[in-house]
Amino acid sequence: MIFFVFKLKFVVVKEMTLSDTMRDSLNDQVKWELWSGYYYLSMATYFYEKNLPGFAKYWTVHAAEEQEHAMKIFKHIVERGGRVTLQTIEQPQTDWNSPLHVAEEVVEHERKVTGMINNLVTMAKSENDYATEVFLQWFIDEQVEEEEGAEKVYNQVKLAGDSGTALLMLDIEFAKKAAAKEED
Ligand code: FEO
Repeated sequence: MIFFVFKLKFVVVKEMTLSDTMRDSLNDQVKWELWSGYYYLSMATYFYEKNLPGFAKYWTVHAAEEQEHAMKIFKHIVERGGRVTLQTIEQPQTDWNSPLHVAEEVVEHERKVTGMINNLVTMAKSENDYATEVFLQWFIDEQVEEEEGAEKVYNQVKLAGDSGTALLMLDIEFAKKAAAKEED
């Protein structure tokens, strides 16, 4: 009985304010954000191997940002009384034909992520889950930046073409971009 009183006084059971479907879909997104980080880190290893450390650093920093995205969603699930269930992170691709091939795939991947975020917003709207809808607004804005950034990288790498000198100059630029991102 004493234990029961103690529990009543000190234990607050947080009720989940997310639907099961919304929680599961947000959990999936945690996995995809972490996977994106893994994917970009894999791209970094490709650039280290090609002796392009600036690009490698840029993708390493980007990988860390993806982990931050995952943690934002993780926190939202917990704050809404939901349980985060971490899922298997599958091995990403480990090789590419060229730096341009990497850049192409980044554009494609970020477009896919935008689609995932849009689907989450559609779900939040259909469930009248205003808190999740508002929370996801940050991701909508972020995806605009992510897609724009990925397209810019693609255009720059495309312009460099087969010129080793141009790629080396870009590599220096990307080292600077990575350092600036880290300071943000
Ligand atoms: Fe978290 Fe690059 O999308």
